Amino acid sequence: MKKNPARNVHLKKGPSKLLEKINSSIEIDQRLYREDIEVSIAHAKMLATKKIISKKEKDLIVKGLNKILKKIQADKVSFKKELEDIHMNIESLLFKEIGKTAGKLHTARSRNDQIVTDFKLWIKNNSKELDENIKLLQKTLINISKKNLTTIMPGYTHLQIAQPISLAHHCIAYVEMLGRDRSRLSDCLKRLNENPLGSGALAGTSFPIDRNLTTKLLSFKKPTVNALDSVSDRDFAVEFVFVLSLINIHLSRMAEEIIIWSNQQFNFIKLPDDVATGSSIMPQKRNPDGAELVRGNSSVVIGNLNSLLVILKGLPLGYSKDMQNDKKIVFNSYDEIILSLKVMNELWSKIKFNKINMKNAVDQSNSTATDLANWFVKELNLTFREAYQLTGKIVAYSNNNGKLLKDLSLNELKVFNKNISASAKKILSSAESIKNKTSFGGTSPQNTKKTIQYAIRKYL
Ligand code: ARG
Repeated sequence: MKKNPARNVHLKKGPSKLLEKINSSIEIDQRLYREDIEVSIAHAKMLATKKIISKKEKDLIVKGLNKILKKIQADKVSFKKELEDIHMNIESLLFKEIGKTAGKLHTARSRNDQIVTDFKLWIKNNSKELDENIKLLQKTLINISKKNLTTIMPGYTHLQIAQPISLAHHCIAYVEMLGRDRSRLSDCLKRLNENPLGSGALAGTSFPIDRNLTTKLLSFKKPTVNALDSVSDRDFAVEFVFVLSLINIHLSRMAEEIIIWSNQQFNFIKLPDDVATGSSIMPQKRNPDGAELVRGNSSVVIGNLNSLLVILKGLPLGYSKDMQNDKKIVFNSYDEIILSLKVMNELWSKIKFNKINMKNAVDQSNSTATDLANWFVKELNLTFREAYQLTGKIVAYSNNNGKLLKDLSLNELKVFNKNISASAKKILSSAESIKNKTSFGGTSPQNTKKTIQYAIRKYL
């Protein structure tokens, strides 16, 4: 059957080529074929259980749908634009496969509840791959952390060197962010885990359907309670794209650091040849294009989130065709994020750290000034503010004399306070500084080792 089986007979002409063009979504929503067939099979089984169709008809429908599934998977089906969307294409294929009985499948349902059910299932199914990819990146970061508990690097505020930290401490910060991304994803999945099938166009149906049965067959937690809400909202898609946007923000910040660290003035990392790009004119270049594109592509996903919100903002309740664009937005955001996660995972796995440069940056920066102030509090019983000001004076002295704090002699220090002893000088070493940060969540190697074990248990 070539014609759209749902084409209204009262519309004698058309649709025009232009209407067909703007209306057709098959190029995008063919990605839902598996879910659409799964939903139809569950629906047919329920219709038979409730004796709305016969068992024989159900068997014929299910067999036909499974055949279609195989054909699509074997790339033996060409979807037709004139059939609008995945639902009508599959229904038309079913007519071809089993004849008139195909016309019974759409009893007690509408494309409005069908699409939202397919779409929720798609998000559920594909979230596994998403979660796996985030987990993989966490694993890579944890592996780097394990090897770098005592690798010293600058910690920044305002992108000015602040205090020494370990590379492990830095990486675990991202592991935690990604962990919250995963938990946000699972929250979003919990909320969308309600079955809209059986809501019909918006009002429910007069057929004696069993929504609990389709809920069970499709592995949803429970049926949605209001048919109008079920077909009208796309808040689950907004939430999903928001989760994707935040993942992207985290990836984009990582990307930014990779870009900065690989810059010659920093020179903290080297991007191996296969993850760097050259220039068409400057033969010496080693550009971080991968990281730049992860950072740049985040504009797409963040833009998508905004688009989806704007689509919904003025819609009256009930289905409106504006909503059809939700698939384009979700699929595109999802694809971008999966690619970005893979690219970031490859980058982190292959980066070579210039540990000497990282430590030198710390040691050339008076980044242990706070440790000296703390020493004054602990050893000389000064208030923190007194200690802070005393240290400030010493910092000014070293700056004026072109020296670093750690290079001042004990005698020079004693000028500021006669009770300053040799242990104050020891406190100025960066290794000492990280070793002493033993507060919960601090950067000391001992702590971080525990944090890594916790991360392994919690996330891997
Ligand atoms: N292709 C449509 C979409 O993705 C399916 C729902 C169509 N419903 C309708 N009343 N025209 O939104």
